[in-house]
Amino acid sequence: MIRRMNARDIPAAMCLKEAAGWNQTTNDWERVLRLDREACFVDERGGHVIGTTSAVRLGADLGWVGMVLVLPRMRRRGIARGLLQHALSGCRSGRGSPRIWGLDATDMARPLYEQSGFQAQEVIERWQRPAEGATAGERPEQPERGHWPGSMQAIDRRAYGCDRSALLLDLWSDPTVEAVTDPSGFAFGRPGSSAWFLGPCVGLEPRPMEAMVRGLLSRHAHERIFWDLLASSTKAREIARRNGFRPVRRLTRMLLAEDPARRCPSDADLVFATPGFEFA
Ligand SMILES: CC(C)(COP(=O)(O)OP(=O)(O)OC[C@H]1O[C@@H](n2cnc3c(N)ncnc32)[C@H](O)[C@@H]1OP(=O)(O)O)[C@@H](O)C(=O)NCCC(=O)NCCS
Repeated sequence: MIRRMNARDIPAAMCLKEAAGWNQTTNDWERVLRLDREACFVDERGGHVIGTTSAVRLGADLGWVGMVLVLPRMRRRGIARGLLQHALSGCRSGRGSPRIWGLDATDMARPLYEQSGFQAQEVIERWQRPAEGATAGERPEQPERGHWPGSMQAIDRRAYGCDRSALLLDLWSDPTVEAVTDPSGFAFGRPGSSAWFLGPCVGLEPRPMEAMVRGLLSRHAHERIFWDLLASSTKAREIARRNGFRPVRRLTRMLLAEDPARRCPSDADLVFATPGFEFA
C-alpha cells in the first residue's frame, strides 16, 4: 500500500538508506517532509516500510525527486516504479505544479526514470576528501540567520534560472547547517551520517568561493567530507582537487521538462556544490 510518509516513518526510512549506504541523516528526512509533506510517500506491506520516494515542490518552477529507496530483498518487483508514478501523478497535476522536475539518478535507477520520461542532462559527481586527522579549526563566523538575504536569492536565481528559495531558507534556518556568505555568493555545509557534506555553494566568482569553502572545511579536516558537483563545472572541479578531494561516484542529472532545452542549473559555472542528491 502506498501512502503519505510522516515523521513516524523516518526510522524505517533510515534503515532503507543505510542498506543503500547513503549519507542522509534523520534531519535530512525531516527537511524533505518539512518542504513538502504532501509529496513524500512510502510503500508499506504487512506493517513494514519497504520503499520510499519524495517529489518535493521546491518552488513554482522546480520540483525534485529523491529518496527513491527499496529494501534490497524486495527489489525488481515494480515497487520503485509504483512509488514514482504515484508521487509524480499527484504533484504534476493541477495548478501550481512545477514546470520542471529533476533528479540525480544512480546507474541502477536510470532506466526507471527514462521509462517515466526523464532525460539525461549531465553527469553529477560525488567527490570525497578523507579525514586528515588534523585538529579542527575555528567555526567560521555565522551570518545573521533572521531572513534569507534577497541578494543571495538573486545570485541563486541567476545560477538556477528558477526558484529554490524554500530549500535555501530551510537550510539557512537550520542550526546544524554551517553557512558562509560574502557579496558574491554563499556556501553551506552540514553533518551527514557517514561524512560531513559540503553544499550547496553558489557564487559569481571562484576566488571568494574558494575562500568560503576553505573556511568551512578547516573545521572539518578531521572528518571525511563529501562534495557533489556538476561535472561540467570546471572551476568547482579545480577547487575541489586543489583542496584534497577526488571523485568517487558518478550519477546522472535528469530532467522532465516541457522544453527539452531546459537545464537545471541554467548556469552551471555559478554552481560550485549541489545540496545533496535529493535536491536540485
Ligand atoms: C533503484 C531502486 C530504487 C529500484 O527499485 P525497484 O523497486 O527494484 O525498481 P522497480 O522494480 O520498480 O524497477 C523498475 C525498472 O527500473 C529498472 N531497474 C531497477 N533496478 C534495476 C537494476 N538493478 N538494474 C537495471 N535496471 C534496473 C528496470 O528497468 C526496472 O524495470 P523491469 O524490472 O521491468 O525491467 C532500488 O534498486 C534501490 O533502492 N537501489 C539503491 C538506491 C538507489 O540507487 N536509488 C535510486 C536513487 S536515484
